[in-house]
Amino acid sequence: MTSPFAYWQGRRVVVTGAAGLVGSHLCDLLVEAGARVLAVDDLSKGILERLTHLEGRIQFAKADLCAPNAARDLFRGQEIVLHLASRAYGIAYSADHHDEMYRFNVDLNRKVLDACAAARVARVLAVSTSCVYPDDAPCPTPELPVNTGEPEKANRGYGQAKRELEIDAARLARETGIAVAIVRPVNAYSGRYKWEGNYSHVIPMLVKRIMDGDDPLVIWGSGRQRRNFLHAVDFGRCFLAVTEHYATADPVNVGYEETVTMEELARAIGDAAGRRPAIRFDPSKPEGRLVKSADSTKLRRVTGGMTPSVPLAAGLREMIEWYHRSFSQKDTR
Ligand SMILES: NC(=O)c1ccc[n+]([C@@H]2O[C@H](COP(=O)([O-])OP(=O)(O)OC[C@H]3O[C@@H](n4cnc5c(N)ncnc54)[C@H](O)[C@@H]3O)[C@@H](O)[C@H]2O)c1
Repeated sequence: MTSPFAYWQGRRVVVTGAAGLVGSHLCDLLVEAGARVLAVDDLSKGILERLTHLEGRIQFAKADLCAPNAARDLFRGQEIVLHLASRAYGIAYSADHHDEMYRFNVDLNRKVLDACAAARVARVLAVSTSCVYPDDAPCPTPELPVNTGEPEKANRGYGQAKRELEIDAARLARETGIAVAIVRPVNAYSGRYKWEGNYSHVIPMLVKRIMDGDDPLVIWGSGRQRRNFLHAVDFGRCFLAVTEHYATADPVNVGYEETVTMEELARAIGDAAGRRPAIRFDPSKPEGRLVKSADSTKLRRVTGGMTPSVPLAAGLREMIEWYHRSFSQKDTR
């Protein structure tokens, strides 16, 4: 059977944010497909260990893409840029660092897109987010125009920067003829997660608390907030398929309709771990939109019906292993 990613064989591909959670899985897929990968990361949040198993099969450049000319120098002679680098943390950080998230990401994205134009690459992937959608967006959310209402409140600065990335990327396509793909992913997780203490994302946070023995387990908000989660490897598969088949500067959701509440998620993690803590809620803490789920009609159409390869239950078992690897012998509270 031919690989679904045969298109990538022999292509010169830059992955920005390659040592990040999703970037590292994307590099795996590209290497498997036979691409010539230049992996770029400043390691501000990424970790090199996520790429060590690819040593000798990719090139790695440690570089801050906000530094003058860094992106321009690196992109010279490259064919495709998959732009994943960004500053992104869990809701506890985003919710009161809007200005920082906005300014940093706008600066980074402009430098990367300018460098794509200067290097005359053929194709670019701009990775946006489902946080561009307003809090009152319909659910499942179809690909609404980028300027619909305000980005979700809890991630306003980050979401606004991603809106500007989409607008600038579409302009790049119009003015240079570069083929641009734009994706709006939901929530990723993977056993390669890097613990960020109180600023961590919800799945690792709940796994850590349950495995640490928190009882009762306190969930932020009402516990009824619903989310769609996708393993980072499935982010990567969708990113490659959309970049290959739908580089039309028209955003595509990367996520699906199925959701779990935070309470259900906590119970599923408990099941995977063989633990049954009592569950309490803290409504004074931010919880974001009540329901976030993606209308996947366009994603399925442009990717030839791609569906998740990692079911949530299997992914949660991977996260329990992540906990044991990350915290055995250590007290990280
Ligand atoms: N993880 C999610 O749930 C999620 C959801 C929606 C969208 N996204 C988007 O997907 C992309 C990948 O997400 P992720 O979870 O892998 O994020 P991540 O934070 O794990 O990876 C981002 C990487 O970018 C690198 N980086 C940051 N600033 C840089 C700079 N100036 N120069 C070079 N490298 C820099 C970081 O070191 C990090 O390794 C991001 O654009 C993110 O906004 C992620």
